[in-house]
Amino acid sequence: MAKILLTGGAGYIGSHTYLALIEAGFDVVILDNFSNAKDDVPARLKDISGKQVHVYQGDVLDRTLLDDVFATHKIDGVVHFAAKKAVGESVAKPLDYIHTNVGGLLNLLAAMDGAGVRRIVFSSSATVYGDTSVQPIPEDHPCTYTSPYAFTKIAGEQILEQLPDNWAIGILRYFNPVGAHQSAMIGEDPEDTPNNLVPYIAKVATGELTQLGVFGNDYDTPDGTGVRDYIHVEDLADGHVLSLKSLIETNQSHTVNLGTGEGSSVLDVLNAYSEACGKKLPHQIKPRRDGDVAVLTARPEKAKATLGFEAKRSLADMCKSSWAWVNGQRRNSN
Ligand code: WQD
Repeated sequence: MAKILLTGGAGYIGSHTYLALIEAGFDVVILDNFSNAKDDVPARLKDISGKQVHVYQGDVLDRTLLDDVFATHKIDGVVHFAAKKAVGESVAKPLDYIHTNVGGLLNLLAAMDGAGVRRIVFSSSATVYGDTSVQPIPEDHPCTYTSPYAFTKIAGEQILEQLPDNWAIGILRYFNPVGAHQSAMIGEDPEDTPNNLVPYIAKVATGELTQLGVFGNDYDTPDGTGVRDYIHVEDLADGHVLSLKSLIETNQSHTVNLGTGEGSSVLDVLNAYSEACGKKLPHQIKPRRDGDVAVLTARPEKAKATLGFEAKRSLADMCKSSWAWVNGQRRNSN
């Protein structure tokens, strides 16, 4: 069975991808520095999958550790999640973001090349498209960065594009990943007050936060609030399995959007979450947030044509799964 290394595999998307890969019959090794993942995630993954979890606690910047992983395991492919991902934080700490996100990728690629492992799936982001009126966005839309975080994703993609043809590369541009695993045993678990919409609403639903601030209702959208392409994290994980399978079977590289092609407004999400948790969630209209765009939705056709990928889960499924996770966490902590 093919063995896959997940860098950042204990994180939100990494842990869900771990379970999808195990389910698909892959063997998986996790490397994570746990800077943005709880220590008990591997134990939860073992409980859910029923399998021993191979975890290295460490950093993609540690070349010695990477060489040890590749010397110990015959790795057939790598999914590279390990990176910093907060847009606002990247503006405050651009060098940290470039060091970790670009330096970490370069270190990983050198270790892979040294071990003769030349198959990689790269975690990219819709943020590479910048602020554009072209909606939904196709993959051939020009890329332009609007933050140091977005710069590191464009830089990562362009570094990968320099590699010779004996590399097989899957570049996956995520839109807005939300929701939690069907087991309600893993999910998004931000340390402090969330910046992103759904984890913030989740804390309003549990009572940890009092109300949702809606960042602007004067956008050129049906209800005036921002529209995004939310995708269930389990659909996103399935997309990674299909990307790896395609690289293994064809050795052909691809760059695809992972989104649903459907846009939902902030108020659509708030209403769906109210339905999921059975209570009306309070909100207050606030000024627009710097850097926000009105609409950001994916053209999903290329992922379907190239990988056979199609998002299956609805906004209601996303909110129900998120509520089951956070409500379960609250019950267990009491
Ligand atoms: C969604 C909508 C906000 C919070 C970000 C990153 C992107 C990717 C996903 C890494 C917007 C509104 C939000 C709140 C609100 N991350 N909102 N009140 O900004 O689309 O994307 O996360 O790859 O790179 O930029 O996601 O969830 O922050 O915002 O009204 O308290 O919700 O204005 O319209 P975003 P988000």
